[in-house]
Amino acid sequence: MESRVADAEAREAQSAAAEGPASGDASQRLPVSEPLGAARWKLLRQVLKQKHLDDCLRHVSVRRFESFNLFSVTEAQKRTTEEDVAAWIQYTSVFYPEYSISLRHNNGSLNVEDVLTSFDNTGNVCIWPSEEVLAYYCLKHSHIFRDLAVCELGGGMTCLAGLMVAISADVKEVLLTDGNEKAIRNVRDIITRNQKAGVFKTRKISSGVLRWDNETDVSQLEGHFDIVMCADCLFLDQYRASLVDAIKRLLQPRGKAMVFAPRRGNTLNQFCNLAEKADFSIQRHENYDEHISNFHSKLKKENQDVYEENLHYPLLLILTKNG
Ligand SMILES: C[S@@+](CC[C@H](N)C(=O)[O-])C[C@H]1O[C@@H](n2cnc3c(N)ncnc32)[C@H](O)[C@@H]1O
Repeated sequence: MESRVADAEAREAQSAAAEGPASGDASQRLPVSEPLGAARWKLLRQVLKQKHLDDCLRHVSVRRFESFNLFSVTEAQKRTTEEDVAAWIQYTSVFYPEYSISLRHNNGSLNVEDVLTSFDNTGNVCIWPSEEVLAYYCLKHSHIFRDLAVCELGGGMTCLAGLMVAISADVKEVLLTDGNEKAIRNVRDIITRNQKAGVFKTRKISSGVLRWDNETDVSQLEGHFDIVMCADCLFLDQYRASLVDAIKRLLQPRGKAMVFAPRRGNTLNQFCNLAEKADFSIQRHENYDEHISNFHSKLKKENQDVYEENLHYPLLLILTKNG
């Protein structure tokens, strides 16, 4: 039940970002209109107190679509100790079942300190559909990463897509990053556990906190990567320009960025405008995979109540540096 509460908080953060003025600061994303505003404040209070949600409040959140079902999830290990707040689960690709990884969600709790002191917790509550699709896409096209240095930005509490590159591709190196420290602590534990199990193809896999708006974080890796990728990171008004700048600076001169994100109002377009101004060429793909397109059409037809194309269907952007 705790995870449901946390999940609801993230949905809330994202739906607020999609609906209204988006900002990187969780408190600023809370809308003020009544009675929705009051209900959302109640929702946040409940997150902080770790209380159960009642049915009525759950309706306040708009995101109820969870997944494209590209990975099967099984419990890998029961909770054993007090410190082991979240159970390990096994994520296996449905289409490429030879690729499987042990993951841990940060679903134990989002405590008061986490919410008040960290700048964004949307990556700490679930793997969003864009990340799932990016992970699937990386498995399907694992050959494109051969001998390349790859960095995932804003990968959240698992950086699932970067992990898939590390287990499937003959990649030179993979760096998994997010701006949230709690997310990266979880990613570090995931790497350690899977290294022990010997599932990575590359020995050079690492993780670290990388804030797009932090000069030191970006400058120490300037020009280092052939491919930078991210999923569902375009909706934060406050950080969109920094994200474009970070992608540009982290890439080597002929590098490419692979970005999956839903339209979320005008946020994807705003990202594209900024990227063009930063001298990127952009290819925009709506139908990049037959299976995902078919699934999307089916969801649109059969689940209009939970599936909203604007919020849930990830488009693929390929950014190439000009010059
Ligand atoms: C919606 S979550 C997406 C997480 C993951 N990619 C997924 O789709 O499941 C957005 C992520 O961007 C990260 N983020 C937001 N602003 C950031 C910044 N300025 N620098 C680095 N990461 C940031 C958050 O910590 C969060 O994990």
